[in-house]
Amino acid sequence: MSKPLSTQSVHAGEEKRKPYGALTTPVAQSSTFTFRDTVEILEYMQDKANGKKPLRDEYGRFSNPTERAAEGKIAALEGGECALLFASGMSAITTTLLTLLESGDHLIMPREGFYITRDFARALLSRWGIETTLVPINQPEALLSAIRPETRLFFADIPTNPYLRMLDLAQLVKIARQHNITTIIDSTFATPVNLRPLEYGIDLVIQSATKYLGGHNDLLAGAVIGSTQALADIEKVRGIMGGVSNPHDAYLLLRGIKTLELRVQRQNETGLRVAAFLETHPAVSRVYYPGLSSHPDYSITKAQLSGYGGVVSFEIDGDFEKTARFIDLLRLPYIGLTLGGVESIIHQPAAHYSLEPVERKAAGIMDNLVRYSLGIENADDILEDLDQALAKIS
Ligand SMILES: Cc1ncc(COP(=O)(O)O)c(C=O)c1O
Repeated sequence: MSKPLSTQSVHAGEEKRKPYGALTTPVAQSSTFTFRDTVEILEYMQDKANGKKPLRDEYGRFSNPTERAAEGKIAALEGGECALLFASGMSAITTTLLTLLESGDHLIMPREGFYITRDFARALLSRWGIETTLVPINQPEALLSAIRPETRLFFADIPTNPYLRMLDLAQLVKIARQHNITTIIDSTFATPVNLRPLEYGIDLVIQSATKYLGGHNDLLAGAVIGSTQALADIEKVRGIMGGVSNPHDAYLLLRGIKTLELRVQRQNETGLRVAAFLETHPAVSRVYYPGLSSHPDYSITKAQLSGYGGVVSFEIDGDFEKTARFIDLLRLPYIGLTLGGVESIIHQPAAHYSLEPVERKAAGIMDNLVRYSLGIENADDILEDLDQALAKIS
């Protein structure tokens, strides 16, 4: 039985006795790691050839001690054997997909989800002869009918960005195993506090550590978590592609993760209160939040998530301009693109698209949609602020 998450967040991955007797893991700000003599190099190479994970580093593009500590912590939180850290969530995703897929393979993804991953699959993987089929989320019949003999991989991010849809993971694993398909879940929105996909038999978990894991809007990082065997090839490709993290961000990540459970619990509580408030407000036409019984996947979210998260998406009863006015009237959140940090941050997805309104609609981005990533501020302050802005547009 592993230790509770709060204890793991503080201690896992880090040596009790650190260099210089330091309490915190030092930032090993070095591009390379030197050897005493040739004998030490040969021993190191022999260990690697025998498949032993070396306890030291060779060159910064392959690994770094600060990064290894962060990897150990993230692996422990997700309940995985091993984790690999990357320069960003997208670097983790692209390196993993490029490692596991080859020309002629077929990938399945839900239609819902983070659009940049979908763009990568459709615009870039296709260049190497890898086809992608998009299926409606959480419809086993649609998934079954998309499967072909050459289907190798299923990839989804849940709860999805921005509509917070969910998948029945047990059902997905059952289908995937019957057809020898590797499953990857990008669990960035859930975090290991609310969901641990490996416990359902998912093969690999991805985190954009830029979001909740880092938690302070001051770093970019990504991680892939799974068995040592599953990650061995991905690690080799990371060393080739060079999308490794850096010691300073790895340090910030180690520090951020220590408060992960506290932050996410607060964000879960605020999320529920804000979603319930918005759902009854006449100036709001629709709320998307996994903790509301009106959510289309509520029975799954209730069974699988231990908290519903800090992102609430909703539609203002009005057009693009009215929605923009509402956002500009808010005093508390920053306006910007990220999520998961201590500062509340809000955005109107339609404002970030250069597409024409009809094209935006076809892409599922409604003009009146708002995505609010709640920070750790006092929930009453967040509600009061929403109330004053909604009153002014009512
Ligand atoms: C679900 C999800 N996965 C991956 C990413 C990409 O992460 P990064 O910005 O760290 O590359 C994002 C970014 O918003 C995301 O929302």
